[in-house]
Amino acid sequence: MSTKQFRLELREHFLRQAGWCEGRSPLYASLCRRLADDPRLDRLVRSPRWDAPLRLLAGVHYLVLVGEASWDDVGAALDEHAAFLSRFVAEQDVQTNEVQRSWALLPAILSISDGRPLDLLELGPAAGLNLVWDRYAYRYVSGAWGDGPLVLAGDDRVPPPPELFGVDVTVARRRGIDRNPIDVTTDDGSLLLQSFVWADQQERLARLRSAIDVVRDSPPELIRGDYVRDLPGLLADREEGAQLVVYETASTQYLDREQRAALQAALHHAGRDEALTFLTTRSNAGEDFYTLEAITWPSGERREVEEFDFHGAWLRWL
Ligand SMILES: C[S@@+](CC[C@H](N)C(=O)[O-])C[C@H]1O[C@@H](n2cnc3c(N)ncnc32)[C@H](O)[C@@H]1O
Repeated sequence: MSTKQFRLELREHFLRQAGWCEGRSPLYASLCRRLADDPRLDRLVRSPRWDAPLRLLAGVHYLVLVGEASWDDVGAALDEHAAFLSRFVAEQDVQTNEVQRSWALLPAILSISDGRPLDLLELGPAAGLNLVWDRYAYRYVSGAWGDGPLVLAGDDRVPPPPELFGVDVTVARRRGIDRNPIDVTTDDGSLLLQSFVWADQQERLARLRSAIDVVRDSPPELIRGDYVRDLPGLLADREEGAQLVVYETASTQYLDREQRAALQAALHHAGRDEALTFLTTRSNAGEDFYTLEAITWPSGERREVEEFDFHGAWLRWL
């Protein structure tokens, strides 16, 4: 690719990202617009990938969080930390974990609980913030549930049935498998996860920090691996006397048809002899929300439970 073509493509990505940030992150929208024509990008970005702006801004955010840069002078950060930033952009995949999705997940889990302790297996948990959902407090129009330092609330457009909030659950085991897990019990892992939150989304950052503290208290088991490949082995390892609940949010959408089929086959096979439930998010083209489905084996019965905003800001119980 010629230098001119490289610059044009990169410029396009920054301008497109500016549009996506518009209204949600004024800071990132304006930075992306300014950076689109910044010649320093040639040194900082080696391939004109669509997520280069997110990677670069996360790198700068990381430096801000450790006190080595300031949002008031991003130019200085680009000059003084060029080596760190170009490595960050080249090597660091965008990695996020949205704890607000627990607010949508909780009523779904309560609705499928059969009274036994839960054996949780999350596919694509990132840092595992949604694996410790039972340690957060929740508020809905129709009720409240749980106790904890982090209180999750949202806009319940059609609230879950109030009787759900009388359901008591215990968790026997919590496991997650991710190809790129983040260990927030380390300072670097915690900073890395924070760095991918848009820096002027203070509420989101505060929620994330609070959830990180909860995870740090007693972290879930995070397994590094590909869940399409490793699921049969994980499903064969059952916690005696517990109800197996497998779930995922914002992860299987990245699978191709073949991988999706392999995942379904593994669940179907494991659920033939001993029941299990799979909670999964699906989004249709053009929609800006997920539909959460509960599939229960051995029957294979599928139920649409709710719709919720991609980040869990609102929900509509079905
Ligand atoms: C957009 S993030 C969502 C993280 C988290 N579930 C949430 O809702 O905040 C998608 C996650 O799925 C993981 N992932 C995607 N495909 C995977 C696979 N085949 N095996 C393991 N992890 C995978 C990614 O590494 C990433 O952590």
